[in-house]
Amino acid sequence: MIDKIEKILADIKTFQAENKEALEQFRIDYLSKKGVMTGLFSDFKQVPPELRKEMGMLLNDLKNTIQEVIEEQQKKFLTTTESKKDLDLSLPVHAMNGSRHPLSIVRNEINDIFKRLGFVVAEGPEIEDDFHVFSALNFPPDHPARDMQDTFFVTKSPDVVLRTHTSSVQVRVMEQGKLPIRIIAPGRVFRNEAISARAHCIFHQIEGLYIDKNVSFADLKQTLYHFVQEYFGEGTKVRFRPSYFPFTETSAEMDISCNICGGEGCNICKHTGWVEILGCGICDPNILKACNIDPEEYTGFAFGMGIERIAMLKYQINDLRMFFENDLRFLKQFENA
Ligand code: PHE
Repeated sequence: MIDKIEKILADIKTFQAENKEALEQFRIDYLSKKGVMTGLFSDFKQVPPELRKEMGMLLNDLKNTIQEVIEEQQKKFLTTTESKKDLDLSLPVHAMNGSRHPLSIVRNEINDIFKRLGFVVAEGPEIEDDFHVFSALNFPPDHPARDMQDTFFVTKSPDVVLRTHTSSVQVRVMEQGKLPIRIIAPGRVFRNEAISARAHCIFHQIEGLYIDKNVSFADLKQTLYHFVQEYFGEGTKVRFRPSYFPFTETSAEMDISCNICGGEGCNICKHTGWVEILGCGICDPNILKACNIDPEEYTGFAFGMGIERIAMLKYQINDLRMFFENDLRFLKQFENA
């Protein structure tokens, strides 16, 4: 039996598979149920007890060697055929065929304007807990926004939800405790809405948060006014209407003069000459407290806008669903944007 093993060892050490099929045949010859190793293991039953230990070790070594040979030779085929020898990773990249999605274009443009004002981009998770989406933002326990109608729940108790607004990132940043804060947070948000030309269950927002000593409503107005002049063009008018959000006090919604008809009245602005683009306000002292910021020392403002809405105004798109359908006829129109 020792002779047999040595002969096999010599054979397999010089074995060179010419192709994958030959290697597979080799494996079948040696390791399959009817192969050489099975034969040897059944011969092993006749080995006298005093030699069993030694023989057993030899057999196991042989089996391992065969496996190593197979693995080694497999690499040969991977490097020559499967990973393609002619692949040159140092070649310059071909010009990209794709183009940016209109929502990315608009998001980047908005980001750029606020970055020039000293805001930095912050991020937070899309799957959030109740605390960051609602509680820390001063939503009363029975507020309708928490309702199953609006919010997608991942689990109930503990409440894990898909964030319904990017305001959750405000909380994430405030918690870090580094002041002053000047961030914008672009991101995806989710609401359980029926999909139509004007609503979708997924959309995008950009949140802004500015906290420092002596921040006032005048700072908020001036910041947003500057944004509107930059983005929609000089001469675009703005107006603030009183509103309500649980996490801001004073709260407002901001309209701009309709950029389509210039304020004359058209169907986009429903003949009012104005379109609403964002919600904003002075941070409620309660939310500063929830994040261990002293409201006697610090004040701040926040705003949140829908990216789809801004993109619809900018490109005169009248159906929100277009952004999500990935229809090339739609997307190709933004190739040079
Ligand atoms: N989170 C609000 C919304 O989704 C918008 C908002 C953000 C309002 C910040 C005020 C301040 O409607």
